[in-house]
Amino acid sequence: MHRDSTKPFYSHGKIIVEIGSGDGRLLNNLASLYHTDDNVLLIGIEVDEPQYRNSCAQIKTGNVQFINDEFENVLANFSDETLDTVISVLPHPDYIDRTHQQKWAPVYKVILDKMKPCGHFILVTELIDELLEPVSTSDYKVWKRWVVEKFGLIGFDVAKVMDGAPLYFSSHYLDKFKNDPQRIKIITLILTKKR
Ligand SMILES: C[S@@+](CC[C@H](N)C(=O)[O-])C[C@H]1O[C@@H](n2cnc3c(N)ncnc32)[C@H](O)[C@@H]1O
Repeated sequence: MHRDSTKPFYSHGKIIVEIGSGDGRLLNNLASLYHTDDNVLLIGIEVDEPQYRNSCAQIKTGNVQFINDEFENVLANFSDETLDTVISVLPHPDYIDRTHQQKWAPVYKVILDKMKPCGHFILVTELIDELLEPVSTSDYKVWKRWVVEKFGLIGFDVAKVMDGAPLYFSSHYLDKFKNDPQRIKIITLILTKKR
């Protein structure tokens, strides 16, 4: 674990966690936006060691740290209702594909539990045509409806659904996928806790 901050997690007023943070591009960019606010800690969790090392090498601010582990293990160490924002950009298929939903649904339930009552989970995910053809409008609609319904069933309140990724988000895969908008359809879900 790379720790620039000597403060323990709980002493920060606001904690932003990115799961599957890849090369750290998004979190390091967000850290620059928040760098004047001492109260905010950004934590990236990435299981792949070379990418984790790359993330640490790009750190420019003291408010961000990366952890090389499975995010399930790391999240288990947080108390419930402690995270302000959880971000997942283009999760691995094991954590979003329809075929693996039995496995991943409980993982997202844990994320819901760890979020503060006013917290957010920002999920950016994609639909890619298996035959490498453009995604049809009807397939896109069916898939989008399924994702929204699935996260609602897990227990989230689906506050907002957007086509594409947030404009200020940049990550290794997002930047790559943006060049292929016909074949790769991206949506963003802003998920909150039910009141
Ligand atoms: C499709 S990549 C997306 C990476 C990055 N978010 C981006 O948009 O460029 C998925 C990432 O999740 C990581 N990953 C998969 N399972 C993980 C787990 N259980 N814990 C932490 N990271 C994981 C992979 O190593 C990979 O870097």
